[in-house]
Amino acid sequence: MSNNIAFFDTKPYDRQSFDSVNRGYGASITYFDAHLDINTVNLTPGFNAVCAFVNDTIDAAVIDQLVENGVRLIALRCAGFNNVDFKAAFRRIHVVRVPAYSPHAVAEHALALIMSLNRKTHKAYSRTRDGNFSINGLLGFDMHGKTAGIIGTGKIGRCMIEILLGFGMKVLAFDKHRDPSLAFASSANFQYAELKDIYAKSDIISLHCPLTPETEHMINARTIEQMKPGVMIINTGRGKLIQTAALIHGLKTKKIGAAGLDVYEEESDYFFEDKSTEILTDDMLARLLTFPNVLITSHQAFFTAEALRGIAETTLQNVKEFFDGGYLQNEICYQCGGTCLKKEKKRCF
Ligand code: NAI
Repeated sequence: MSNNIAFFDTKPYDRQSFDSVNRGYGASITYFDAHLDINTVNLTPGFNAVCAFVNDTIDAAVIDQLVENGVRLIALRCAGFNNVDFKAAFRRIHVVRVPAYSPHAVAEHALALIMSLNRKTHKAYSRTRDGNFSINGLLGFDMHGKTAGIIGTGKIGRCMIEILLGFGMKVLAFDKHRDPSLAFASSANFQYAELKDIYAKSDIISLHCPLTPETEHMINARTIEQMKPGVMIINTGRGKLIQTAALIHGLKTKKIGAAGLDVYEEESDYFFEDKSTEILTDDMLARLLTFPNVLITSHQAFFTAEALRGIAETTLQNVKEFFDGGYLQNEICYQCGGTCLKKEKKRCF
């Protein structure tokens, strides 16, 4: 069967990287600008696969319609999969993702947020271009010797820890599943810790865990209260890890010293789009943008040439594996979250 894929939420850079990598795969690709959701799912009859991204809505209603339209595979071109209703998909439509493309890309962006917020290079850039060479208000701190709290020690969290250890920081890490075999585990500056200790001792907290019912709003009024005054919070994970109202309160009361956000709870209406000529109707986002110590980027942490190529290669390989009829190494389902039948090298269902 030919691989006839409907690509949703595509931008020029997606088309460029997929067209280039697809020369080696020969899939038939139709690109749509629109998000995949209940309003656009009716573009899918005639396709046997859809390719979706972080802000597409793949809920039960969309899945019902995809199945009815004859679509057999949802190929996510991202690592996170919180936007899919796996219960609705189970035993009806397969889901694959790109579990890793460049964890370095995301960790390096998290570092860029830290460095800019600390040394205020984003402010210095506009000042000097405006002929203002004053350094008043640009005071930073040495990262060397400070404590970073890393939540989630998976692929991205590990890159982040290695980078921060290189700065001479002390790193406290929390993960639901600790891995004592980590390369840096024996470093005197690295230690697994409980969340309460991370909150109490960290100068910078960086989030690298997935969004799950357990992690949703893990940064909230109660946990912010436990943090060090002036803490810097970095989120390149998913927006809903942070309860935005609590973050804003923490910034207003100066409990939080700075926030670097590559993701935002309600980002789907804004991120990746040019809204510069429109009125911003999201009051929380508007408020966040007024703080001088908040730096927001538009879900661009993954956005490097290496990562785009890796995403295209793994996505097209995932689609090929599906239509070749074999084992799907990057399948995820309701039961497994990515681990089902991996030893037997079988599909989830
Ligand atoms: P990963 O699966 O390699 O690591 C996630 C880690 O989080 C695992 O070690 C897991 O045990 C841990 N974890 C799970 N539940 C937890 C909990 N309740 N508390 C603490 N730790 C928990 O994933 P990877 O590749 O490191 O990505 C992490 C997250 O980063 C993704 O889930 C995704 O949401 C986000 N991401 C953001 C990107 C961006 O452009 N901003 C790009 C790629 C990923």
